[in-house]
Amino acid sequence: MTVIGIDKMSFFSPHQYIDMVELANARGEEPNKYLIGIGQTEQAVIPATQDVVTMAANAADEMLTASDRKEITMILFATESGIDNSKSGAVYLQRLLGINPYARTIELKQACYAGTFALMQARDYVTLHPKEKVLVVASDIARYGLQTSGEVTQGGGAVAMLVSANPMIAEINQDNQFLSRDIMDFWRPIYADTARVDGKYSSNVYQDFFKAVWQRYKEKSGRDISDFKALAFHLPFTKMGLKALRDVLPEANDEQQAALLDEFEASRVYNKRIGNLYTGSLYLSLYSLLENSQSLEAGDRIGMFSYGSGAEGEFYSLTLQPHFNSGLVTGQIESLLANRQYVSIPDYEKIFNNQLRGPEDRVIDIKDDGAKFTLHGQKNEQRQYVCN
Ligand code: HMG
Repeated sequence: MTVIGIDKMSFFSPHQYIDMVELANARGEEPNKYLIGIGQTEQAVIPATQDVVTMAANAADEMLTASDRKEITMILFATESGIDNSKSGAVYLQRLLGINPYARTIELKQACYAGTFALMQARDYVTLHPKEKVLVVASDIARYGLQTSGEVTQGGGAVAMLVSANPMIAEINQDNQFLSRDIMDFWRPIYADTARVDGKYSSNVYQDFFKAVWQRYKEKSGRDISDFKALAFHLPFTKMGLKALRDVLPEANDEQQAALLDEFEASRVYNKRIGNLYTGSLYLSLYSLLENSQSLEAGDRIGMFSYGSGAEGEFYSLTLQPHFNSGLVTGQIESLLANRQYVSIPDYEKIFNNQLRGPEDRVIDIKDDGAKFTLHGQKNEQRQYVCN
């Protein structure tokens, strides 16, 4: 049987960040609450020159060859911070990236879960059409508002994944178990640009969904914790994943418990410094695991827990392929983090309030943003994207 899965992965987040100790001090909180209790050390700051389209374009562009661009026949754009209620972000991407005009383009939404749904649609499509490739992007900006309890869990960025036959990184196994329930733990009304959230309730529901889909996965697959080299989680903040992991650790022996905790640390290195990127968070965590784990090997099975408020949970597994690290863009995240510019809390607050909103024409100064794709403003209510 032909193996179908993730061939390449690439990541982008903007060039500015804030320090969580400074945010804690500014908000009158103990720094260790943010560093340990929440598990975040830095947070990406999204300038007016970036939105979900430019971030997705910047992520995908770095991994796509000229032949990939010809062979892609579908672009699936997962986001819950889309820039238009009608037109999909994927259509912009197709033009900006010079992808085959005979590709289909569509945007998908179900809170943080849509990236996983897109990936599964891509897998199933390529299973039927093994000569074709699908581009999946998960791009989001997590916004709760200044001086809210969710502020420490903001962030933003995009993960791009190319799904193909005979993939370099991982096979996506056909073992998904999922659960949906109509609940109000987190939502964003159509008129609002910040999320509404019942924070503690959302964290409890996340854990409940994880336990439910994990239990069902074990029953349906006949597998148990000993079949997994690592578990990767949707990380709205990195302590959330640790809480879920602790729910299943007692099922492992002492040696495996220590190993799973080590892999978890590898899986949150990047998320600690970026923050939540909603649809992309689980996949940034996977990227972090692949680059920072000391012990992963070809053939290892990785458990993936996806959660999207509202709510939907899914558990499935990946199997690492022989050259799994060759599918990542070498040194990409390390250099992105090393080159980010520090922003003070007062400056971050100004940037936060200076996003492109409303119908007015506006020109945005892009000179400080070194990214290839930027948002240059709005004319006649149309976003003006530029390729620098
Ligand atoms: P909060 O009320 O400010 O924090 O909100 P807290 O009082 O619950 O404290 C947080 C943790 O810090 C606690 O640990 C404290 O004990 C600890 P826990 O009991 O949870 O293990 N703590 C300390 N630790 C060390 N040293 C100290 C210290 N002080 C306190 N000195 C909350 C926190 C996460 C609720 C808030 O930030 C929030 O509402 N965030 C947004 C919602 C969210 O991220 N929910 C996660 C689950 S829902 C989800 O994942 C979906 C989502 O991504 C959206 C989507 O699907 O689209 C959000």
